[in-house]
Parts: sequence; C-alpha cells; structure tokens
Amino acid sequence: MSLSVALLGSSDRDLFTGLRDRGYRVSESSASEVSSLYPPGAKGPDAFLVDTRGIVPPSRDLAPLKRQFPTAGVVVIADTLDPNGMLEAMRLGITEWLPAPVALQDVENALRRVTRPVSSRTVAGQCFAVVGGKGGVGSTTIAVNLATALHKATAEPTLLVDMHMAQGDAAIFLGVEPRFTVLDALENIQRLDDAYLKGLVTPTPCGLDLLAAANRPLIGTLDVMRVRALIEFLKSAYPWVVIDCTRSDSSVIESLDAANTVLVVANQELPTLRSASRLAMALRQRCGANRIKLMISRFDSQSEIDRKDVERVLGGKVSYTFPSDYRTAVTALNKGEPLVLSSQGLLAASFETAAREIANLPQVARETARGGLFARLGGKR
Ligand SMILES: Nc1ncnc2c1ncn2[C@@H]1O[C@H](COP(=O)(O)OP(=O)(O)O)[C@@H](O)[C@H]1O
Ligand SMILES: [Mg+2]
Repeated sequence: MSLSVALLGSSDRDLFTGLRDRGYRVSESSASEVSSLYPPGAKGPDAFLVDTRGIVPPSRDLAPLKRQFPTAGVVVIADTLDPNGMLEAMRLGITEWLPAPVALQDVENALRRVTRPVSSRTVAGQCFAVVGGKGGVGSTTIAVNLATALHKATAEPTLLVDMHMAQGDAAIFLGVEPRFTVLDALENIQRLDDAYLKGLVTPTPCGLDLLAAANRPLIGTLDVMRVRALIEFLKSAYPWVVIDCTRSDSSVIESLDAANTVLVVANQELPTLRSASRLAMALRQRCGANRIKLMISRFDSQSEIDRKDVERVLGGKVSYTFPSDYRTAVTALNKGEPLVLSSQGLLAASFETAAREIANLPQVARETARGGLFARLGGKR
C-alpha cells in the first residue's frame, strides 16, 4: 500500500505532483487545518511534510502536530536551518530537516526514513555518554567495558561510538580496524537510515558494534544539530548506545542533552579534578543535574584526596568508583579484548555492577559471593 503524505503549508506544485507521480497519496492543507482534517483519535497520515519556506521554522506548530499524531513521521523543509528552531523540533523527536532548494529524491529519502518501521522496536534505545575530565583518566576503558557489560547482560545489539574527532582509540581496545567512522555518519546525516548505518559500523569480536573515531579532518563544520541528530538516530537504531566522548569539542559536549545519562570521569589528581569540575558544571547546566553522574577511575582508597574531597570539588555525589588495576587494564587493551570478558577481578566486577545500575538492570550476585552466601544460608558447604 502506498504511503499517505500530508503536505502542510506548501505552494510548491512540483513537490505535490512529483510525490503523487511517485505513487504517494498526497493531501494538501495549511498547518491550521490539520486538526479539522483528522478528527481526534483518527490515525492521520503516514507522514507530514511541513513546508516552512518563506517563514521562520514554526516549531510552535510542530508540537501539537507531534502530540496529536505521535506515530506519524515528520519532515520539515526550511530555507535556513535555524539552530534554535531545529533544537526545539529535535526535542519533539523531529530529526528530518531538508534545506531549500530540495530535490524530490531527498524528500523521498527523508519520507522513507521517517516512515520505516523502527526495526520492530517501538521504544527508543538508551544512550550513555562517557566524558573524561582529562586525557588518560580512563574514559575509553570505562566506555568500552560498560558497553561490553551491557551487551553481555542483555544480549541485545549494543553500539559503542568513538566520538573523537582525532585520535580516538576505541578500535584498538576492540581489536578492529574500521573502514568508516563517525565522520561518515555526521557528513551524511541527511541520508542516514538503518541500512546506511549498518554499512558504517564495524562489528567486533566481543559482539559490540563500533562507530569508530574520525581518521581524517571533517569536511565542513561540526555543529551541535548534526551531532544531536546522530545521537537521536543511533538511539532509534540500537537498544544500547555508549559514547566515548571527546571533551575538547564544544559541539559534541553541547549535544549531550540527547544522551540519557552523562558519566563524567575523574581521578584523584588535582589537575583532573579541576577540569572535571568545570566540565560537570557545564554539563549540569546543559543536561540537568539529575542526568550527570560522577565516576572515579583508578580509585585508590589510600590516596590523600579521598572520595569526599572529590565530591566537594566536583559538586556532587560520586556514583561509581573503579579500582586501580593497571596490569589487567593494559593486558586487555593490548589484546584488543574488553577486560569484562577476560578478567574475574574487582575492576571487571565494578564495570559490570555500574553498567547494570546505569541501565536499570537487575544486579546479579557474583558466583563467589552467591556460593558463599548460599552455603551459609543452606549449610551445604
Ligand atoms: N582502572 C584502571 N586502573 C589502572 N589503569 C587503568 C585503569 N583504567 C584505565 N587504565 C589505563 O590507563 C591508560 C589510559 O586509559 P584510557 O581509557 O585510554 O584513558 P582516556 O580514554 O581517558 O584517555 C591505559 O593504559 C589504560 O589501560
Ligand atoms: Mg580515550
């Protein structure tokens, strides 16, 4: 059955006839007529094509539309991509923006993307972003192992995104040599769909999919809207997305309100604490304090700077600490295999516990603890 498309506020005859000739069932109306065309409770069209050329993108009009027709796709055509209007629209889940002049093929591609069944998943996936207070603090180790632990716990498709615009090394941690990178996704954000994304990610031996770090300079500018649109799209494609995030690119940091939780990594060194504190403050303002969680990497209980000191400097509770275990961390890194798969130690256990807690999954008692506990309860050992 052909797709039904409601063309809103457009005087572009070529667009109307072009879509009709390509087999769409096209109706035309002004934005204000929509509710009378589709009475409350009616299904509405498969997609709305909102033509805002000649006017400021009316994000106000898009909110009621999305509310009344939550399952209909929305594609917006605009003269200019106004960042504020787009941001508003993105918050409503509208990620398809076509800058004028538009080619019919681009419109069709966008319509296809917004009407595709979301690979049998109706709920958006969850995205966790890991940002280090400084380089070397252990954030890639954390991102790689949290993602692997999530995949291990749920057996669901899990994507690790290396959002470094230069010198990201998640691929080394996972033992792969990717052909495509996050830049290919960002540069082609308009045509990203499930099939295209599948071609860009690198499957890894541990079962994660990797969208690898940039290996060349970006063509054009990296803007918040593009990064945000990418994160939203990734959440629609995977149940679990973990981002190993650069902190040196403001576009990336500013787009993190698209993540469900942002994990700020510090250690017990003053320079790291100082920059982590600034980072945590900026992120709290951007994403809301409840979405920011603090972590201490290579935690040393004997350190002069203790957990309470860290909490004072960072202005919040430390949710997770990961013990220091350089040998295990480096051995896994050099093998290209996440340590949660190869180690039974405390560091691996702390990653698994954190992953389950962050993702709201039930905790499992560890083998040894369970054995001991059962033995004592049941008196069998
Ligand atoms: N908990 C830990 N204990 C000891 N060493 C660690 C720990 N986590 C990471 N490392 C080591 O620290 C170094 C930097 O880690 P990495 O994750 O690449 O940091 P970042 O991504 O913040 O630059 C690596 O050699 C890694 O093996
Ligand atoms: Mg790193």
